[in-house]
Amino acid sequence: MARFFCRWRTVLICVCTPCIAFVLLLAYVTLILCLAIHGREGSPLPLHFVAQGTFSNGNFAPLPKTFWQLGQHVDGLWNRLQRTVDHHFNPILRPDYVRAGSGNDTSYESLLERGFSEVVGLDGVKESFDGLSRQTQEFLSHMHRRDYPALIQPDGVCGAGAKDERKAPLLLLAIKSMELNFRNRQAIRRTWGQAGRVAGQWRNGKGGGGGGAYVRRVFLLGNGRNESAGGSLSELLQTESDRYGDILQWDFRDTFFNLTVKDVLFWGWFSRSCNRTLFVFKGDDDVFVNTPRMVTYLQEQLKKPRARETIGDFMVGDVIAEGLPNRVNKSKYFIPDGFYKGLYPAYAGGGGVVYSSRLTRRLLHVSKRVHLFPIDDVYVGMCMVRLNAQPVHHPAFLTFDFPKKEEEQLCAYHTILLVHKRSPAQVVDLWDDLKMTRAQCWDVPLRGANKPEL
Ligand SMILES: *[C@@H]1O[C@H](CO)[C@@H](O)[C@H](O)[C@H]1NC(C)=O
Ligand SMILES: *[C@@H]1O[C@H](CO)[C@@H](O)[C@H](O)[C@H]1NC(C)=O
Ligand SMILES: *[C@@H]1O[C@H](CO)[C@@H](O)[C@H](O)[C@H]1NC(C)=O
Ligand SMILES: *[C@@H]1O[C@H](CO)[C@@H](O)[C@H](O)[C@H]1NC(C)=O
Ligand SMILES: *[C@@H]1O[C@H](CO)[C@@H](O)[C@H](O)[C@H]1NC(C)=O
Repeated sequence: MARFFCRWRTVLICVCTPCIAFVLLLAYVTLILCLAIHGREGSPLPLHFVAQGTFSNGNFAPLPKTFWQLGQHVDGLWNRLQRTVDHHFNPILRPDYVRAGSGNDTSYESLLERGFSEVVGLDGVKESFDGLSRQTQEFLSHMHRRDYPALIQPDGVCGAGAKDERKAPLLLLAIKSMELNFRNRQAIRRTWGQAGRVAGQWRNGKGGGGGGAYVRRVFLLGNGRNESAGGSLSELLQTESDRYGDILQWDFRDTFFNLTVKDVLFWGWFSRSCNRTLFVFKGDDDVFVNTPRMVTYLQEQLKKPRARETIGDFMVGDVIAEGLPNRVNKSKYFIPDGFYKGLYPAYAGGGGVVYSSRLTRRLLHVSKRVHLFPIDDVYVGMCMVRLNAQPVHHPAFLTFDFPKKEEEQLCAYHTILLVHKRSPAQVVDLWDDLKMTRAQCWDVPLRGANKPEL
């Protein structure tokens, strides 16, 4: 009998002790977790979950500064507004809703509005609003509006172009302009913005081997009318439109902070009017574009393996990563701390950027659930993040001009796709130079072309 007990005790020690230890450990961990979660003022978990994402090419997105962000009061007004919407579309928190792909324009609109009513009721919002700069307050009070009517539209379906296009246009040049910048528009029409068939970068521009493609052009304008200047300006613009058919004007004030509205309205117009065009160039009216090179570059992209699948994400330009909001209150780019906190997502500089028409449609769709942001290229970056897409950097987009003396080399302008900034007179001279040096320079590689592409 005693022997039996002895054996039983051994079993007890060998088997049950680890079990008991494990149960105790479990209880301890549970207790600690409960304390950690409920210990914070007894409030439920915050809804803002910041996880590291991956891009479609498998790379990791830059790690956010915080993994789990507590306390919403540290955020700017824009962040707070947008969080309501992002929460609604969070695939972790609302898997069924997101999977069903539900949502129409009406429901998006009401969602954006709900963000306003929820946030305006919160503590301290009135004080943050009063602390913002005048320009930002002006922006905030109109930021829910994006349905401005068109005043002038191009007579062609998709801007000015060749009447008898035998193939789908490769590229639409969409150039942000203002009523007063007539000289810029004239210079562009006569030089890099010529619509019609454009030969690619070939010997003598002959376009052997199928080089060359159709290009279209449109200028994007807001309403530059101003009480003291009278209505005469718009009449001139109407005449210009009758003559060239490349003016697209909407009825909103043409200011720097309204450029985002221009983007969103352009995407809508493009999706309705340009269903055959493959790529969009969107840029300023004070840049010089090497259009022949651009045409060749885009044709090369189409020939790449898997181009069909990747074209929906295609955006290329001068990419700025981990940009900080400008906090200098005299700057045109000034964004107060109380309006936006955090880094900007990677974005392509707005001086000039190229993207596919498929991406244009996706951007239009996703923009319906992203609150407008005062800086247009940053806004595009914010939309790209929500599409899980990444703009690709190309060193031939010189939105900050040539480094030092490189410009003086004979073939310098043949190695670039875009340079900022150039006056109308310079644009005309550069275009002549480009034609004159074509025979010597036709086969120089693009800047950075020998580096492996990502
Ligand atoms: C859009 O969504 C709203 C709310 O979800 C719904 O009431 C409305 O009927 C929908 N409209 C269409 C055209 O599907
Ligand atoms: C209107 O135009 C006048 C002269 O052209 C200019 O001085 C004034 O600043 C403009 N006002 C606005 C609000 O743009
Ligand atoms: C944008 O345009 C609207 C409509 O003209 C105007 O009311 C608003 O003040 C403009 N916003 C900014 C920031 O200039
Ligand atoms: C493009 O639009 C035209 C007219 O709006 C239409 O006839 C045509 O089928 C459309 N093409 C495609 C590919 O959607
Ligand atoms: C701009 O900032 C300076 C220094 O920080 C400050 O003195 C000034 O009042 C600010 N101006 C405006 C318009 O906020």
